[in-house]
Amino acid sequence: MLSTGLSHSPTNQTDITGASQGPSHLGNRTDWNPTAVEIYNSTGHGADGKELLDKWLAYILRVIVPGRHVLDAGCGTGPDSIICAKSLQARSVVGVDINGEMIRVAIAKREDLSPEIKEKIQFIVGDATTTNWLIPSVRQSFDVTLSVNVGCNIRDLTKYVEVMTRATNEGGQCIITAPDNFATVFTDGSLTDIQKEERLKCIDEKLRAINPNDPKAAEQVKAAFNGQGFIYRATVALIDNQYQVIMTDDQLAALEPGAAIFRKLPGMVVPNYYHSADEYVMALEKCLSGNVKIKSHTGCFNDHEEQEKYNAENPDSLLGKEYIGKNPFVAYEVTISRACK
Ligand SMILES: C[S@@+](CC[C@H](N)C(=O)[O-])C[C@H]1O[C@@H](n2cnc3c(N)ncnc32)[C@H](O)[C@@H]1O
Repeated sequence: MLSTGLSHSPTNQTDITGASQGPSHLGNRTDWNPTAVEIYNSTGHGADGKELLDKWLAYILRVIVPGRHVLDAGCGTGPDSIICAKSLQARSVVGVDINGEMIRVAIAKREDLSPEIKEKIQFIVGDATTTNWLIPSVRQSFDVTLSVNVGCNIRDLTKYVEVMTRATNEGGQCIITAPDNFATVFTDGSLTDIQKEERLKCIDEKLRAINPNDPKAAEQVKAAFNGQGFIYRATVALIDNQYQVIMTDDQLAALEPGAAIFRKLPGMVVPNYYHSADEYVMALEKCLSGNVKIKSHTGCFNDHEEQEKYNAENPDSLLGKEYIGKNPFVAYEVTISRACK
């Protein structure tokens, strides 16, 4: 049942910090950008995330009505945990992340909040693909389980979705957001189509020249994008033993679910795993025995005018026309019913 939230008493929680676990969640991949924590922290998420993500999150997070207990799985440096506790007046928030350094920064950020907001938020180091972190000193189930762009860090989506749905109360909402549009190159809108095509061709040539067996291949993928600030988001994958920028649905279709990819994000290139929208839906259906209605939300510019207005108001974040009708993220929302679990 949903909690009524009548009592003000929050969780009385203690953080669980653990030693820094670094990039362990990336399996054997050691190419995680060491500055990711700093970048996430200074920008709220990615370099354009402060504006676009907030706009989009406000739309998605409207279900977090005051008084609800919220899990933020894969909370990073905690921007969404803080939004939930502060602006959305959640009753309590547990932010879990596998990376101890992210949690350390999240805890430090929480220090700047007022005492009554601060005491609502507990940060713990934990793996969202296991239930090991569901221990007595941590709330066991939640009215809202939220996870913002974490599936792309996880090879096995089913395990993660299982934990998310299991941790959600009867009648509660499970909201998982993920990257979408892997075959779209999102730009800052500063170049003409011809200029963009020329520059992309040049990057693609550099990528194809990289030997994927070279231990420095990840560094070289990153270097290929250096100085290409006009690309906000793009996906790079190994196809026919060559790194390529993914630009067509055919290239995307050649990828296996869970394939290792690189994503160019604002300010960084990160190693990720590829999961299609269908995979998220299938994982949710599997965990909820198929008997589930999944709402998919995308918040994006509806037309050119809306985009122009946004760009005029945010001169540091000129989003290209690719953002019209194609948000780079999608949110899957399900209401949990025990009958379907
Ligand atoms: C793209 S970031 C998103 C962070 C945060 N949700 C935000 O919106 O800023 C992905 C986060 O998921 C975390 N992560 C990856 N695998 C995880 C796992 N198995 N369990 C918990 N957190 C995980 C990473 O450490 C990283 O902080």
